[in-house]
Amino acid sequence: MGNMAKEITTLNNEQLLRVLNEAFAEEWLAYYQYWIGAKIMEGPMRASIESEFEEHAKEELEHAHWLAERIIQLGGTPILNPIDWDKMAKCKYLTPENPFNVELLKQNLASERCAIKRYQQICEMCHGKDFETFEISRKILHEELDHEQDWEDFLQDIEKQQEYAIEKIKSETKQ
Ligand SMILES: [Fe+2]
Ligand SMILES: [Fe+2]
Repeated sequence: MGNMAKEITTLNNEQLLRVLNEAFAEEWLAYYQYWIGAKIMEGPMRASIESEFEEHAKEELEHAHWLAERIIQLGGTPILNPIDWDKMAKCKYLTPENPFNVELLKQNLASERCAIKRYQQICEMCHGKDFETFEISRKILHEELDHEQDWEDFLQDIEKQQEYAIEKIKSETKQ
């Protein structure tokens, strides 16, 4: 714990630690959602989507690492038991019951949008009051925005591919 770290922030420390631990839980769940998704997925562009899932998983884990360090610095304790991840998280774990990767992409897009709201909330909370937590949240927000964009692009490409295939079939059957 850094005594000065606590002293210089003008926020309610207990409230801030609670929010940071909620985000910490969400990052672990996001990590696992990608990790298991990469293992089980089936469907179009599998190889590239799979490696993108693995890449995102690594980044979510890194977010958990940054949050844990900040929680400790502020005198808190990162969640010690995984059983509490689901209880604490507001952005819930979405079980990948359907391994078709278009469905997995949609699930993870929803999760990224939840994460974006979460870090926007922490940034707003810390703006001008806790520069270090603000900086960490801003850095994570930047990556969550990138993640959202990745899935929007993939879904758009898949949709275009389908439209093209349908048009092609239609024009061939006309001949
Ligand atoms: Fe994240
Ligand atoms: Fe993300």
